Amino acid sequence: MNIAIAGTGYVGLVSGVCLAEKGHHVTCVDIDEAKLELMRQGHSPIYENDLEELMRNNNAAGRLHYTSDYRSAYAHADAIFIGVGTPEMADGSANLSYLSDVCRQIAESVEQDCLVVIKSTVPVGTNDKVERFLHDFQKHPVKIEVASNPEFLAQGTAVHDTLKAARIVIGTESAEAEAVLREIYEPFGLPIVSVSRRSAEMIKYASNGFLALKISYINDIANLCELVGASIDDVVEGMKYDSRIGEKFLHAGIGYGGSCFPKDTSALFSLANSLHYELKTVDAAIQINRKQKLRLFQKARERLLTLQGLKVAVLGLTFKPGTDDLREAPSLVNIPLLLEAGADVYAYDPAGIPHFRKKYPSEVTYCASVKEALTDADACFIFTEWPEIASLEPGMFKSWMKNALVFDGRNIWKPEKMAESGVEYYSIGR
Ligand code: UDX
Repeated sequence: MNIAIAGTGYVGLVSGVCLAEKGHHVTCVDIDEAKLELMRQGHSPIYENDLEELMRNNNAAGRLHYTSDYRSAYAHADAIFIGVGTPEMADGSANLSYLSDVCRQIAESVEQDCLVVIKSTVPVGTNDKVERFLHDFQKHPVKIEVASNPEFLAQGTAVHDTLKAARIVIGTESAEAEAVLREIYEPFGLPIVSVSRRSAEMIKYASNGFLALKISYINDIANLCELVGASIDDVVEGMKYDSRIGEKFLHAGIGYGGSCFPKDTSALFSLANSLHYELKTVDAAIQINRKQKLRLFQKARERLLTLQGLKVAVLGLTFKPGTDDLREAPSLVNIPLLLEAGADVYAYDPAGIPHFRKKYPSEVTYCASVKEALTDADACFIFTEWPEIASLEPGMFKSWMKNALVFDGRNIWKPEKMAESGVEYYSIGR
Protein backbone atom coordinates (compact mmCIF):
# COMPACT_ATOMS: atom_id res chain seq x y z
CA MET A 1 0.00 0.00 0.00
CA ASN A 2 0.98 3.59 -0.51
CA ILE A 3 1.28 5.09 2.98
CA ALA A 4 2.16 8.63 4.12
CA ILE A 5 3.30 9.36 7.67
CA ALA A 6 2.70 12.74 9.30
CA GLY A 7 5.33 13.43 11.98
CA THR A 8 8.74 11.80 12.30
CA GLY A 9 9.05 11.62 16.08
CA TYR A 10 9.11 8.33 18.01
CA VAL A 11 5.68 7.17 16.96
CA GLY A 12 5.68 8.42 13.36
CA LEU A 13 9.18 7.45 12.35
CA VAL A 14 9.19 4.03 13.99
CA SER A 15 5.77 3.22 12.50
CA GLY A 16 6.88 4.39 9.05
CA VAL A 17 10.09 2.40 9.13
CA CYS A 18 8.33 -0.76 10.36
CA LEU A 19 5.55 -0.44 7.75
CA ALA A 20 8.23 -0.15 5.05
CA GLU A 21 10.02 -3.16 6.54
CA LYS A 22 6.81 -5.12 6.03
CA GLY A 23 6.69 -4.21 2.34
CA HIS A 24 4.60 -1.03 2.15
CA HIS A 25 5.64 2.03 0.17
CA VAL A 26 6.07 4.73 2.83
CA THR A 27 6.65 8.49 2.63
CA CYS A 28 7.51 10.31 5.87
CA VAL A 29 6.56 13.99 5.97
CA ASP A 30 8.38 16.59 8.03
CA ILE A 31 8.99 20.35 7.71
CA ASP A 32 12.64 20.25 8.81
CA GLU A 33 14.82 19.92 5.67
CA ALA A 34 18.02 19.22 7.61
CA LYS A 35 16.31 16.39 9.48
CA LEU A 36 14.91 14.98 6.21
CA GLU A 37 18.37 14.94 4.63
CA LEU A 38 19.76 13.16 7.68
CA MET A 39 17.05 10.51 7.40
CA ARG A 40 17.63 10.08 3.67
CA GLN A 41 21.22 9.22 4.53
CA GLY A 42 19.98 6.61 7.00
CA HIS A 43 20.60 8.57 10.21
CA SER A 44 17.87 8.53 12.81
CA PRO A 45 17.01 11.83 14.53
CA ILE A 46 16.00 9.82 17.62
CA TYR A 47 18.10 7.52 19.77
CA GLU A 48 16.54 4.11 19.26
CA ASN A 49 17.98 0.59 19.00
CA ASP A 50 17.86 -1.08 15.54
CA LEU A 51 16.16 1.89 13.89
CA GLU A 52 19.03 3.11 11.71
CA GLU A 53 19.70 -0.35 10.32
CA LEU A 54 16.08 -0.71 9.23
CA MET A 55 16.06 2.84 7.83
CA ARG A 56 19.14 2.13 5.71
CA ASN A 57 17.78 -1.20 4.42
CA ASN A 58 14.41 0.26 3.48
CA ASN A 59 15.87 3.48 2.03
CA ALA A 60 18.08 1.33 -0.18
CA ALA A 61 15.15 -0.89 -1.16
CA GLY A 62 13.27 2.21 -2.35
CA ARG A 63 10.35 1.60 0.02
CA LEU A 64 11.05 4.50 2.39
CA HIS A 65 11.07 8.17 1.35
CA TYR A 66 11.21 11.50 3.18
CA THR A 67 9.74 14.80 2.04
CA SER A 68 8.61 18.24 3.14
CA ASP A 69 6.13 18.36 0.27
CA TYR A 70 3.06 17.21 2.14
CA ARG A 71 0.73 17.87 -0.77
CA SER A 72 2.35 15.29 -3.02
CA ALA A 73 2.79 12.83 -0.13
CA TYR A 74 -0.90 12.99 0.86
CA ALA A 75 -2.52 13.47 -2.57
CA HIS A 76 -2.47 9.80 -3.63
CA ALA A 77 -1.87 7.96 -0.36
CA ASP A 78 -4.11 4.97 0.40
CA ALA A 79 -3.59 5.67 4.09
CA ILE A 80 -2.12 8.59 6.05
CA PHE A 81 -0.83 7.76 9.53
CA ILE A 82 -0.68 10.65 11.98
CA GLY A 83 2.00 10.32 14.64
CA VAL A 84 2.48 13.90 15.81
CA GLY A 85 2.90 14.81 19.49
CA THR A 86 -0.01 15.63 21.80
CA PRO A 87 1.90 17.28 24.66
CA GLU A 88 0.39 18.16 28.02
CA MET A 89 -1.12 21.64 28.42
CA ALA A 90 -0.90 23.65 31.62
CA ASP A 91 -4.33 22.37 32.70
CA GLY A 92 -3.34 18.71 32.16
CA SER A 93 -5.32 18.23 28.96
CA ALA A 94 -3.77 17.16 25.65
CA ASN A 95 -2.60 19.84 23.22
CA LEU A 96 -4.07 19.00 19.82
CA SER A 97 -2.58 21.88 17.85
CA TYR A 98 -0.02 19.74 15.95
CA LEU A 99 -2.78 17.29 15.10
CA SER A 100 -5.07 20.03 13.79
CA ASP A 101 -2.26 21.54 11.68
CA VAL A 102 -1.73 18.18 10.01
CA CYS A 103 -5.48 17.69 9.48
CA ARG A 104 -5.69 21.05 7.71
CA GLN A 105 -2.89 19.92 5.35
CA ILE A 106 -4.55 16.57 4.75
CA ALA A 107 -7.92 18.18 3.99
CA GLU A 108 -6.42 20.42 1.34
CA SER A 109 -4.20 17.73 -0.23
CA VAL A 110 -6.07 14.44 -0.52
CA GLU A 111 -7.12 13.70 -4.11
CA GLN A 112 -8.22 10.05 -3.86
CA ASP A 113 -10.19 7.94 -1.36
CA CYS A 114 -8.06 7.61 1.73
CA LEU A 115 -8.00 6.30 5.29
CA VAL A 116 -6.56 8.68 7.90
CA VAL A 117 -5.15 6.67 10.79
CA ILE A 118 -4.53 8.39 14.12
CA LYS A 119 -1.63 6.82 16.00
CA SER A 120 -1.07 9.77 18.34
CA THR A 121 -2.57 9.41 21.80
CA VAL A 122 -5.69 11.56 21.70
CA PRO A 123 -8.63 12.16 24.04
CA VAL A 124 -11.65 9.95 23.47
CA GLY A 125 -13.84 11.44 20.75
CA THR A 126 -10.98 13.09 18.83
CA ASN A 127 -11.21 10.65 15.90
CA ASP A 128 -14.85 11.66 15.42
CA LYS A 129 -13.92 15.34 15.47
CA VAL A 130 -11.05 14.79 13.03
CA GLU A 131 -13.36 13.02 10.61
CA ARG A 132 -15.88 15.86 10.75
CA PHE A 133 -13.11 18.42 10.35
CA LEU A 134 -11.73 16.63 7.27
CA HIS A 135 -15.18 16.42 5.73
CA ASP A 136 -15.82 20.10 6.43
CA PHE A 137 -12.55 21.26 4.89
CA GLN A 138 -11.66 18.69 2.21
CA LYS A 139 -10.90 20.29 -1.12
CA HIS A 140 -11.57 17.34 -3.41
CA PRO A 141 -14.80 15.27 -3.45
CA VAL A 142 -13.22 11.96 -2.37
CA LYS A 143 -14.05 9.59 0.49
CA ILE A 144 -11.97 10.23 3.61
CA GLU A 145 -12.44 8.01 6.67
CA VAL A 146 -10.71 8.14 10.02
CA ALA A 147 -9.50 5.19 12.11
CA SER A 148 -7.81 4.92 15.48
CA ASN A 149 -4.69 2.78 15.79
CA PRO A 150 -3.03 3.56 19.13
CA GLU A 151 0.66 2.95 19.62
CA PHE A 152 2.04 0.95 22.55
CA LEU A 153 5.77 1.14 21.90
CA ALA A 154 8.20 1.86 24.71
CA GLN A 155 11.30 3.96 24.09
CA GLY A 156 14.52 2.00 23.72
CA THR A 157 12.63 -1.04 22.40
CA ALA A 158 10.39 0.80 19.92
CA VAL A 159 11.27 -1.24 16.82
CA HIS A 160 10.87 -4.54 18.61
CA ASP A 161 7.62 -3.37 20.25
CA THR A 162 6.22 -2.45 16.83
CA LEU A 163 7.32 -5.47 14.81
CA LYS A 164 6.50 -7.90 17.63
CA ALA A 165 3.64 -6.04 19.31
CA ALA A 166 1.54 -8.01 21.80
CA ARG A 167 -1.52 -6.79 19.89
CA ILE A 168 -2.56 -4.29 17.27
CA VAL A 169 -5.62 -2.27 18.25
CA ILE A 170 -7.72 -0.83 15.46
CA GLY A 171 -10.76 1.35 16.00
CA THR A 172 -13.01 1.84 13.01
CA GLU A 173 -16.60 2.78 12.21
CA SER A 174 -16.94 0.97 8.89
CA ALA A 175 -16.13 -2.41 7.37
CA GLU A 176 -14.08 -0.70 4.63
CA ALA A 177 -11.85 1.11 7.09
CA GLU A 178 -11.36 -2.09 9.09
CA ALA A 179 -10.46 -3.98 5.90
CA VAL A 180 -7.82 -1.39 4.92
CA LEU A 181 -6.15 -1.61 8.33
CA ARG A 182 -6.31 -5.41 8.38
CA GLU A 183 -4.60 -5.44 4.98
CA ILE A 184 -1.89 -3.03 6.15
CA TYR A 185 -1.15 -5.14 9.24
CA GLU A 186 -1.59 -8.55 7.63
CA PRO A 187 2.19 -8.97 6.96
CA PHE A 188 2.95 -8.40 10.67
CA GLY A 189 1.14 -11.64 11.60
CA LEU A 190 0.07 -10.27 14.99
CA PRO A 191 -3.21 -10.50 16.92
CA ILE A 192 -5.59 -7.72 15.93
CA VAL A 193 -8.17 -6.31 18.33
CA SER A 194 -10.83 -4.59 16.26
CA VAL A 195 -13.18 -2.25 18.16
CA SER A 196 -14.97 1.07 17.76
CA ARG A 197 -12.92 4.25 17.45
CA ARG A 198 -13.82 5.47 20.92
CA SER A 199 -12.96 2.15 22.52
CA ALA A 200 -9.60 2.13 20.73
CA GLU A 201 -8.83 5.62 22.00
CA MET A 202 -9.82 4.49 25.49
CA ILE A 203 -7.70 1.31 25.33
CA LYS A 204 -4.55 3.40 25.02
CA TYR A 205 -5.33 5.63 28.01
CA ALA A 206 -6.61 2.73 30.10
CA SER A 207 -3.42 0.73 29.40
CA ASN A 208 -1.01 3.53 30.25
CA GLY A 209 -3.08 4.55 33.27
CA PHE A 210 -3.04 0.98 34.54
CA LEU A 211 0.73 0.60 34.13
CA ALA A 212 1.35 3.96 35.82
CA LEU A 213 -0.96 2.90 38.63
CA LYS A 214 0.89 -0.40 39.00
CA ILE A 215 4.20 1.44 39.46
CA SER A 216 2.70 3.96 41.88
CA TYR A 217 1.05 1.15 43.82
CA ILE A 218 4.32 -0.71 44.31
CA ASN A 219 6.09 2.53 45.22
CA ASP A 220 3.38 3.23 47.81
CA ILE A 221 3.81 -0.25 49.23
CA ALA A 222 7.62 0.16 49.16
CA ASN A 223 7.34 3.33 51.24
CA LEU A 224 5.16 1.46 53.73
CA CYS A 225 7.69 -1.42 53.79
CA GLU A 226 10.28 1.04 55.08
CA LEU A 227 7.96 2.02 57.94
CA VAL A 228 7.01 -1.53 58.95
CA GLY A 229 10.47 -3.07 58.50
CA ALA A 230 9.68 -5.25 55.47
CA SER A 231 11.64 -5.49 52.20
CA ILE A 232 9.91 -4.58 48.93
CA ASP A 233 12.15 -7.09 47.10
CA ASP A 234 10.82 -9.92 49.25
CA VAL A 235 7.25 -8.65 49.03
CA VAL A 236 7.37 -8.52 45.20
CA GLU A 237 9.01 -11.93 45.10
CA GLY A 238 6.03 -13.27 47.00
CA MET A 239 3.49 -11.46 44.85
CA LYS A 240 4.79 -12.13 41.36
CA TYR A 241 4.11 -15.87 41.28
CA ASP A 242 0.41 -15.07 41.27
CA SER A 243 -0.24 -14.93 37.54
CA ARG A 244 -3.09 -12.50 38.13
CA ILE A 245 -0.52 -10.01 39.42
CA GLY A 246 2.53 -10.90 37.29
CA GLU A 247 6.07 -9.67 37.77
CA LYS A 248 6.27 -6.77 35.34
CA PHE A 249 6.04 -3.10 36.33
CA LEU A 250 6.51 -3.92 39.98
CA HIS A 251 9.98 -2.43 40.23
CA ALA A 252 9.88 0.13 43.04
CA GLY A 253 12.02 3.22 42.75
CA ILE A 254 12.08 6.96 42.25
CA GLY A 255 8.93 7.06 40.14
CA TYR A 256 8.03 6.95 36.49
CA GLY A 257 8.96 9.56 33.89
CA GLY A 258 8.96 9.67 30.11
CA SER A 259 6.81 11.05 27.38
CA CYS A 260 3.74 8.90 28.02
CA PHE A 261 2.79 7.97 31.57
CA PRO A 262 2.88 11.48 33.08
CA LYS A 263 1.15 13.07 30.09
CA ASP A 264 -1.44 10.34 29.52
CA THR A 265 -2.44 10.00 33.18
CA SER A 266 -2.97 13.78 33.35
CA ALA A 267 -4.94 13.76 30.12
CA LEU A 268 -7.12 10.86 31.30
CA PHE A 269 -7.79 12.51 34.65
CA SER A 270 -8.57 15.79 32.96
CA LEU A 271 -10.87 14.08 30.43
CA ALA A 272 -12.81 12.41 33.26
CA ASN A 273 -12.95 15.71 35.14
CA SER A 274 -14.41 17.48 32.13
CA LEU A 275 -17.19 14.89 32.22
CA HIS A 276 -17.68 15.47 35.97
CA TYR A 277 -16.23 12.07 36.85
CA GLU A 278 -13.50 11.89 39.48
CA LEU A 279 -11.01 9.23 38.42
CA LYS A 280 -9.55 8.64 41.88
CA THR A 281 -7.26 5.74 40.98
CA VAL A 282 -5.44 7.64 38.27
CA ASP A 283 -5.28 10.75 40.44
CA ALA A 284 -3.64 8.65 43.16
CA ALA A 285 -1.05 7.34 40.67
CA ILE A 286 -0.20 10.92 39.69
CA GLN A 287 0.05 12.22 43.26
CA ILE A 288 2.12 9.28 44.48
CA ASN A 289 4.52 9.64 41.57
CA ARG A 290 4.98 13.35 42.17
CA LYS A 291 6.01 12.69 45.78
CA GLN A 292 8.08 9.62 44.92
CA LYS A 293 10.47 11.66 42.83
CA LEU A 294 11.44 13.59 45.98
CA ARG A 295 11.97 10.64 48.32
CA LEU A 296 15.66 10.10 47.67
CA PHE A 297 16.46 13.76 48.16
CA GLN A 298 14.49 13.72 51.42
CA LYS A 299 16.54 10.72 52.59
CA ALA A 300 19.72 12.67 51.85
CA ARG A 301 18.41 15.68 53.79
CA GLU A 302 17.67 13.47 56.76
CA ARG A 303 21.12 11.86 56.68
CA LEU A 304 23.27 14.94 56.01
CA LEU A 305 23.56 18.12 58.04
CA THR A 306 24.10 20.00 54.81
CA LEU A 307 24.79 19.42 51.14
CA GLN A 308 26.58 22.76 50.87
CA GLY A 309 29.96 22.33 49.18
CA LEU A 310 29.70 18.54 48.90
CA LYS A 311 30.76 16.82 45.70
CA VAL A 312 27.69 14.89 44.64
CA ALA A 313 27.97 12.34 41.84
CA VAL A 314 24.79 11.83 39.80
CA LEU A 315 24.63 8.66 37.75
CA GLY A 316 21.88 8.64 35.12
CA LEU A 317 19.95 11.62 33.75
CA THR A 318 17.47 10.08 31.30
CA PHE A 319 14.02 8.88 32.40
CA LYS A 320 15.08 5.29 31.72
CA PRO A 321 17.99 3.44 30.08
CA GLY A 322 18.22 3.03 26.30
CA THR A 323 17.07 6.55 25.43
CA ASP A 324 18.44 10.10 25.44
CA ASP A 325 15.01 11.42 26.44
CA LEU A 326 14.83 13.55 29.58
CA ARG A 327 11.10 14.19 29.63
CA GLU A 328 9.77 14.02 33.21
CA ALA A 329 13.02 12.37 34.33
CA PRO A 330 13.63 12.30 38.09
CA SER A 331 17.00 14.02 37.43
CA LEU A 332 15.13 17.14 36.31
CA VAL A 333 13.43 17.42 39.70
CA ASN A 334 16.38 16.40 41.87
CA ILE A 335 19.35 18.17 40.31
CA PRO A 336 17.82 21.64 40.83
CA LEU A 337 17.22 20.67 44.48
CA LEU A 338 20.82 19.51 44.88
CA LEU A 339 22.10 22.72 43.28
CA GLU A 340 19.82 24.85 45.42
CA ALA A 341 21.15 23.07 48.51
CA GLY A 342 24.68 24.09 47.49
CA ALA A 343 26.00 20.74 46.23
CA ASP A 344 28.62 20.56 43.46
CA VAL A 345 26.96 18.19 40.99
CA TYR A 346 29.12 15.89 38.83
CA ALA A 347 26.86 14.05 36.39
CA TYR A 348 27.36 11.09 34.12
CA ASP A 349 24.95 9.56 31.61
CA PRO A 350 25.82 7.56 28.49
CA ALA A 351 23.27 9.39 26.29
CA GLY A 352 21.49 12.18 28.18
CA ILE A 353 24.28 14.76 28.66
CA PRO A 354 23.84 16.76 25.40
CA HIS A 355 20.15 17.46 26.16
CA PHE A 356 20.77 18.07 29.87
CA ARG A 357 23.60 20.49 29.08
CA LYS A 358 21.15 22.64 27.09
CA LYS A 359 19.14 23.16 30.30
CA TYR A 360 22.11 23.44 32.67
CA PRO A 361 25.10 24.61 30.60
CA SER A 362 27.39 25.62 33.47
CA GLU A 363 25.74 24.71 36.78
CA VAL A 364 26.60 21.00 36.48
CA THR A 365 30.00 19.42 35.77
CA TYR A 366 29.56 16.75 33.09
CA CYS A 367 31.79 13.68 33.34
CA ALA A 368 33.03 11.34 30.62
CA SER A 369 32.76 8.21 32.78
CA VAL A 370 31.18 6.77 35.88
CA LYS A 371 34.58 6.69 37.53
CA GLU A 372 35.21 10.38 36.86
CA ALA A 373 31.89 11.29 38.49
CA LEU A 374 32.47 9.07 41.51
CA THR A 375 36.10 9.95 42.20
CA ASP A 376 36.38 11.77 45.55
CA ALA A 377 32.60 12.26 45.74
CA ASP A 378 30.96 12.79 49.15
CA ALA A 379 27.68 11.25 48.03
CA CYS A 380 26.19 9.59 44.97
CA PHE A 381 22.65 9.65 43.58
CA ILE A 382 21.46 7.07 41.04
CA PHE A 383 18.52 8.07 38.86
CA THR A 384 18.78 5.70 35.86
CA GLU A 385 19.74 2.03 35.75
CA TRP A 386 21.91 2.07 32.60
CA PRO A 387 23.72 -1.30 32.31
CA GLU A 388 27.14 0.28 32.87
CA ILE A 389 25.85 1.84 36.08
CA ALA A 390 23.98 -1.27 37.23
CA SER A 391 27.07 -3.42 36.67
CA LEU A 392 29.23 -1.46 39.12
CA GLU A 393 30.64 -3.61 41.91
CA PRO A 394 29.85 -2.27 45.40
CA GLY A 395 33.60 -2.11 46.11
CA MET A 396 34.02 0.53 43.40
CA PHE A 397 31.98 3.05 45.38
CA LYS A 398 34.17 2.34 48.39
CA SER A 399 37.46 2.73 46.56
CA TRP A 400 36.59 5.71 44.32
CA MET A 401 34.42 7.93 46.54
CA LYS A 402 35.65 10.04 49.44
CA ASN A 403 32.63 8.90 51.48
CA ALA A 404 30.89 5.81 50.16
CA LEU A 405 27.37 7.19 50.65
CA VAL A 406 24.95 6.04 47.95
CA PHE A 407 21.30 7.04 47.36
CA ASP A 408 19.91 4.64 44.78
CA GLY A 409 16.58 5.50 43.14
CA ARG A 410 16.49 2.24 41.17
CA ASN A 411 17.15 -0.41 43.84
CA ILE A 412 20.05 -1.83 41.86
CA TRP A 413 22.18 -3.45 44.59
CA LYS A 414 21.37 -5.78 47.46
CA PRO A 415 21.61 -3.74 50.68
CA GLU A 416 23.58 -6.56 52.36
CA LYS A 417 26.21 -6.58 49.58
CA MET A 418 26.63 -2.82 49.83
CA ALA A 419 26.97 -3.06 53.62
CA GLU A 420 29.56 -5.86 53.31
CA SER A 421 31.63 -3.60 51.04
CA GLY A 422 31.45 -0.73 53.51
CA VAL A 423 29.00 1.36 51.48
CA GLU A 424 26.35 3.33 53.37
CA TYR A 425 23.38 2.64 51.12
CA TYR A 426 19.88 4.09 50.89
CA SER A 427 17.33 2.80 48.40
CA ILE A 428 13.53 2.52 48.18
CA GLY A 429 11.42 0.18 50.28
CA ARG A 430 14.11 -1.84 51.98
C1 UDX B 1 5.48 3.53 28.20
C2 UDX B 1 4.70 2.23 27.93
O1 UDX B 1 5.49 1.11 28.39
C3 UDX B 1 4.36 2.09 26.46
O2 UDX B 1 3.56 0.95 26.26
C4 UDX B 1 3.61 3.34 25.99
O3 UDX B 1 3.31 3.27 24.61
C5 UDX B 1 4.42 4.58 26.28
O4 UDX B 1 4.75 4.64 27.69
P1 UDX B 1 8.02 4.30 27.99
O5 UDX B 1 7.59 5.58 28.64
O6 UDX B 1 8.91 4.38 26.81
O7 UDX B 1 6.75 3.44 27.55
O8 UDX B 1 8.84 3.44 29.07
P2 UDX B 1 8.55 2.32 30.16
O9 UDX B 1 9.59 1.28 29.99
O10 UDX B 1 7.17 1.86 30.21
O11 UDX B 1 8.90 3.09 31.51
C6 UDX B 1 8.21 4.27 31.91
C7 UDX B 1 8.72 4.76 33.25
O12 UDX B 1 8.32 3.88 34.29
C8 UDX B 1 10.25 4.85 33.34
O13 UDX B 1 10.59 6.04 34.01
C9 UDX B 1 10.63 3.65 34.16
O14 UDX B 1 11.81 3.84 34.90
C10 UDX B 1 9.43 3.52 35.09
N1 UDX B 1 9.21 2.18 35.63
C11 UDX B 1 8.85 1.15 34.80
C12 UDX B 1 9.31 1.94 36.99
O15 UDX B 1 9.63 2.86 37.77
N2 UDX B 1 9.07 0.68 37.47
C13 UDX B 1 8.72 -0.36 36.68
O16 UDX B 1 8.50 -1.47 37.19
C14 UDX B 1 8.61 -0.12 35.29
